[in-house]
Order: sequence, then structure tokens, then C-alpha cells
Amino acid sequence: MTKLQHLMQRGTEFLGCDVAIMCGAMSWVSERNLVSAISNAGGFGVIACGAMTPELLDTEIAATKALTSKPFGVNLITMHPQIMELIDVCAKYDVSHVVLAGGLPPKGSIEAIKAFGAKVICFAPALTLAKKFARSGVDALVIEGSEAGGHIGPVATSVLAQEILPELGEQLPIFVAGGIARGGAIASYLEMGAAGVQLGTRFVCAHESIAHPNFKAAFLRANARDAVASVQIDPRLPVIPVRALKNKGTEEFTKKQVEVAAMLDRGEIDMETAQLEIEKYWAGALRRAVIDGDVEYGSVMAGQSVGMVHVERPVVDIIAKLVDEANTALAR
Ligand SMILES: Cc1cc2nc3c(=O)[nH]c(=O)nc-3n(C[C@H](O)[C@H](O)[C@H](O)COP(=O)(O)O)c2cc1C
Repeated sequence: MTKLQHLMQRGTEFLGCDVAIMCGAMSWVSERNLVSAISNAGGFGVIACGAMTPELLDTEIAATKALTSKPFGVNLITMHPQIMELIDVCAKYDVSHVVLAGGLPPKGSIEAIKAFGAKVICFAPALTLAKKFARSGVDALVIEGSEAGGHIGPVATSVLAQEILPELGEQLPIFVAGGIARGGAIASYLEMGAAGVQLGTRFVCAHESIAHPNFKAAFLRANARDAVASVQIDPRLPVIPVRALKNKGTEEFTKKQVEVAAMLDRGEIDMETAQLEIEKYWAGALRRAVIDGDVEYGSVMAGQSVGMVHVERPVVDIIAKLVDEANTALAR
């Protein structure tokens, strides 16, 4: 066994794959093709359920199963109004791992997932929450820093890793995410006590990714500084920041916030509806960029590691390169 395999062992045993590299769920991008390619290459793919209906998720899981016999996960957004039905769909297909993203899991959801034998993975944006999850029976954690693409927390990956890995790294498997694009970084987080890592941005330009050619081209052109976090305009309307490539869509989002805040002021909607409006906006804007290729007005969600994505290549090559770089770093 190589040193890397040894450091990844807990992660690979937990996930049931060869390399403890998860491809984080990315709405519209992480569908059957990319997910099966990642799992077939020895990593761990995760379907992004996003705003899908239970029927659509059913179709997507079945189609993914037809493309791979390896394990993969399903990522569910906790605020989805039909979360319990989505869990039932995962149970129907005996999905091995369910990732809960976007806030505290609703009552009964963790129990419902464990009841059919699947492992539960949650995102922990702070040490206190990580401890709470560990106590409530969550099987593994993803700690994701603000360098990541998509919805982000306020703290950098390097800081979260130092805060959380020494405290909880032995208690349960922890996967580090956000800003990772090279094997050297993977090696360092493993040495700090991580069981594995999760990458998103790095896999968007994989051959197997169905992202529109315009979306991939925007990634290949961009530098780290182009991937900026959205700004909250109205202090009364808390919006979860989203990291995406700066474009006209970023300006549109500012307008959207002003609009929603005005509706809130006029008493036309309550705070919960206001926040849902914002989330619906993102889902639509991301689809516009990923599927329709409108990278000017759509949302090109990307992490700061986008500056290290230079070519489109097959998933097996990306994983092989990461493993090679990690091995080199560990041998130094
Ligand atoms: C285009 C895009 C869409 C994403 N959509 C989701 C999502 O639907 N659910 C989720 O939990 N995370 C989502 N993420 C976050 C990824 O799963 C992953 O944690 C993140 O990309 C890791 O950081 P990195 O981009 O620096 O590699 C998204 C990221 C990107 C780039």
C-alpha cells in the first residue's frame, strides 16, 4: 500500500471506492454522465438533486445505475419542500450515501436515511455545528471553505481544516472541500487528518461533463480573481453568498435583491418566501449558463481554483493527475 492509499484508507472504506476524491454535487452539471464517469474512474460521484421533483430524481438515479455498478451518492437540498419523498426515492434504489446540503436537516430526515441503511453526510460550516452533527448520528462531514464555487460560508478552507480536523478528525470521516485543484493540497489535508477531499470546479471541464461548451470556455479563460462572491445589498434580507464568475448576471442579481426587498417592504411576501425567491433565482440563472450556454447573463458558479483549470480532459486523466501529484508531494 502506498502512503497515499494509507492516508485515504478511511475515506475509501467509507465511500466504497478506490480514491477518496468526491466530486461535489453541482446542480445541472452533476447528472448521470459526470457522476458515473467519476465513480467508474475510482472516485466518488454525487448526483445533484437541486430542485428536481421526486420523479426526475427517480429517473436520474436509474439512469446513473445503468452507467455504473460502482457506488455514488445523492445530494439533497434540505429546504426542498419534498425532501422526505426524495429520501424515499433514494431508499427505493438503495442509494449508499446521501449528502444533505444547505442548512440544518429537517426533523426526521437523518433517521429516515439511516433507516434504509444509507450513510448520511452533512456540510459543517463551523466547529460547533460539526460537533452537533457528530452527536446526532451523522456518519461523515464535508467542511467547505469560502474558496469554493456555488453557495459558500464565510470561512476559508485552510482555517476550517485547522479548527475542525484536530477536534473531530478521529471521530468521523471528514472530507475537505473548497479551492482544491492539485494533488499537493490533497496530500496536505490528508496529513492534517482528513479522510478525503471533495472537488467541484476541477471537474466541470471534464469531457464527460454535459456543461455547455460556452460554460467550459468561460472556465478555461478565467483566473482565480474572476470568481467572486455575491454581495448582500439589503441588511434585512440575508442572502447566502454565491461564488461565480463576474458577468452581467452578477449585476442582475443586485437588481433581483432590490426587487425582493421591496416586495418584503410592501408586505407582499414574508422572509421565508423572500429567501426562496432568491434561491429560485440562482437555480434558474445557473441552468441558463450550464445548459443554455448564456454565460453573460446566467450564473457561472465557479470556485477560485478555476484559474488552475486549463484544458478539457477525461475524468480518468484528471483523477490520475491528482493522485500522481499527491504521491509526489508525499514522497518529498
Ligand atoms: C457550478 C457549481 C454548482 C454547484 N452546485 C451545488 C449544489 O447544487 N449542491 C451542493 O451541495 N454544492 C454545490 N456546489 C459545490 C460543490 O459541490 C463543491 O463542494 C465545491 O465546488 C467544492 O469547491 P471547489 O469548487 O473549490 O472545488 C456547486 C459548485 C459549482 C462550481
